[in-house]
Amino acid sequence: MRTRRTKKRNPRNQWADHYTRRAKKEAFPARSVYKLQEIQKRFRVIRKGGRVLDLGCAPGSWTRYAAELTGPGGKVIGIDLKKVGIALPAHVHLLQGDILAPDAAIAEVLAPGFDAVISDMAPATTGHRDVDAARSLNLCEAALTIARAHLKPGGHFVCKIFQGPDAQGFIDRVRNAFTNQRIYKPQSSRKASREIFIIGQGKKQEA
Ligand SMILES: C[S@@+](CC[C@H](N)C(=O)[O-])C[C@H]1O[C@@H](n2cnc3c(N)ncnc32)[C@H](O)[C@@H]1O
Repeated sequence: MRTRRTKKRNPRNQWADHYTRRAKKEAFPARSVYKLQEIQKRFRVIRKGGRVLDLGCAPGSWTRYAAELTGPGGKVIGIDLKKVGIALPAHVHLLQGDILAPDAAIAEVLAPGFDAVISDMAPATTGHRDVDAARSLNLCEAALTIARAHLKPGGHFVCKIFQGPDAQGFIDRVRNAFTNQRIYKPQSSRKASREIFIIGQGKKQEA
């Protein structure tokens, strides 16, 4: 008699499936939204009526959530190499381009006056830890430069970084530019993933 083998599911897949299913149900294009939700619950980085700059915004989950938080009285500007395919409210403005080589359209929206700069930018991964960490750091440095130049004094910064040998230097630079600096690993971020989030609260006047 043939016995039917029940396939044991990998707990890591079950975890991913849980957040993916939830994102689908709640009409978010990616489960990464739950990381920003956890960050927001804890650090209150986005306020109603605020101006938010979302770097690396595709496929659009953070942008949609940020737009819900600001409401129509605020503004969310999203920039990514890739096109965002979802419908977003009128107070969202999307631009396609490279943060590392901003074109004229990006340069135009990068004016001072943001309340929050949030970056979930990630390089295309190679599988080589140090290479991926170095590329992630490069994106983080670009995001920090933008945050220092374009956040209002008192504004907040959220930045994803892949942990690597040079991450500490970046964390120190965030600490210098903000009144409070925190390192945060959301529950919805895979434990095995080397990503962490650096939160800078309250940009210093002279940063
Ligand atoms: C993890 S995804 C962001 C997910 C997004 N926060 C969401 O919730 O939908 C990382 C994004 O960073 C973008 N990215 C990577 N390098 C970039 C660059 N130099 N300029 C702009 N975007 C970049 C990628 O195209 C990718 O869409």
